[in-house]
Amino acid sequence: MQEGEKIIVESIQGTTTQIVEDKKNTKKVFLESYGCQMNFSDSEIVASILQKQGYNTTSDLKDADLILLNTCSIRDKAEQTVRKRLSEFNSLKKNEKKPTIGVLGCMAERLKAKFLEEEKLVDLVVGPDAYKDLPNLLQETDDGRNAINVILSKDETYGDIQPVRLGGNGVTAFVTITRGCDNMCTFCVVPFTRGRERSRDPHSILNECVDLYEKGYKEITLLGQNVDSYLWFGGGPKKDFEKASDIQKETAINFAQLLEMIAKKLPETRIRFSTSNPQDMSLEVFEAIKKYNNICKYVHLPVQSGSTSVLKRMNRQHTREEYIDLIKKAKEIVPDIAFSHDMIAGFCGETEEEHKDTLSLMEEIKYDFGYMFAYSDRPGTPAHKKMEDDVPHEIKKRRLSEIIELQSQHSLFRMKSYVGKTYEVLIEGDSKKDKNQWKGRISQNAMVVFNKTENENIGDFVQVKINDCTSATLIGEVINTI
Ligand code: SAH
Ligand code: F3S
Repeated sequence: MQEGEKIIVESIQGTTTQIVEDKKNTKKVFLESYGCQMNFSDSEIVASILQKQGYNTTSDLKDADLILLNTCSIRDKAEQTVRKRLSEFNSLKKNEKKPTIGVLGCMAERLKAKFLEEEKLVDLVVGPDAYKDLPNLLQETDDGRNAINVILSKDETYGDIQPVRLGGNGVTAFVTITRGCDNMCTFCVVPFTRGRERSRDPHSILNECVDLYEKGYKEITLLGQNVDSYLWFGGGPKKDFEKASDIQKETAINFAQLLEMIAKKLPETRIRFSTSNPQDMSLEVFEAIKKYNNICKYVHLPVQSGSTSVLKRMNRQHTREEYIDLIKKAKEIVPDIAFSHDMIAGFCGETEEEHKDTLSLMEEIKYDFGYMFAYSDRPGTPAHKKMEDDVPHEIKKRRLSEIIELQSQHSLFRMKSYVGKTYEVLIEGDSKKDKNQWKGRISQNAMVVFNKTENENIGDFVQVKINDCTSATLIGEVINTI
């Protein structure tokens, strides 16, 4: 249980951004992000828009003219954390600077004007598709009025905005390729807070990747709520593909083709992607992983439950057997590929038998990692409207702890399988525990720590022999710098 709580807490922790300076700028924004990687990536777009409006970022709250919280609605706990943080910020209103306080992201979209009217915690509310309107909205708040824009867009991808890289290590970066989600999993608030699924122009994606390469970045993670569903046919929501012209259909680019385009153009750059969805994942993607050494052999493939009946209630478009078969086929194409999962314990109506199906699915696959959650009823979702959140809290907790316990056994099993072998590791920085050690990841995404020698630097690819492990970390020694 403890570990599960840690995972949940980690996924909603805010990160204060590093200082980005433009000498001309006089105003300061404190920007904090919660939730998924997409939110962190969106904050980089927001920082870019604000930089043009005269703002530099600051990590000192007292120094800020503008405080923005990029929020998450995925579970109730995430929203509670944000509310607590907002009340803390509100006390700063008494300070000389009287900062403007705003919420961005999914909670802004979900609660809309309620934030301004009922909660009175903020001056500014901006949904995930309205960041380009920030300059106008800030004009309103400067004039003493509250401001809000939560309009969701069918085609906004921010493809024309060059993100300001925040809080990073200069080695790994995120590039957003799709926005929104059309899948309508019954438990999930994302389709309501992030709108319709749309894909970003592949040329703007490629340009951003090349720019990162030129700036010295070594690893790029392509981001989307459902990357496998990527489809470019000239813009607009994916659901309009049927209406596209013949030429648009013939020249459309899918996710596997996009991956291949980037991998070919930047052969020295590692490519990762997240998140995959079993119902949209094609074997073509695994073929691309097999063909290009720089596409990492790791897929985050959330399943949510191992029970076909629960999957049906969740509106996931596949059975337990289809999911297992997909993983089996993937391993036939790329034998040393690693998988991780998202799992929900105690979804509406989940019986003990159905929970056991989840444990047995995990036994069958033995994932490298997992992100595990107790079901949290979200207002507005189909499950909230049509089903009962009827699994008692204590039972959810017990089932979650069983899932977590099993995952930690499997993680150890997988980590042990890497011991004794040598892997290419991209050095991402100092190990958290010991500054005399580096940390980095292997293609399969497992974290490795190893003693520094005089020969290597952050951002280098090195060969590391794995000597030992825990369930979360590999411990190795560098063989030679490439
Ligand atoms: N496709 C998305 C999924 C977003 S939500 C992505 O890019 O990651 C991330 C995970 O949170 C989901 O896979 C699911 O396991 C979990 N989750 C979503 N809604 C939830 C809810 N109502 N209660 C508990 N966990 C939830
Ligand atoms: Fe949510 Fe399902 Fe989309 S989990 S983000 S509705 S794939």
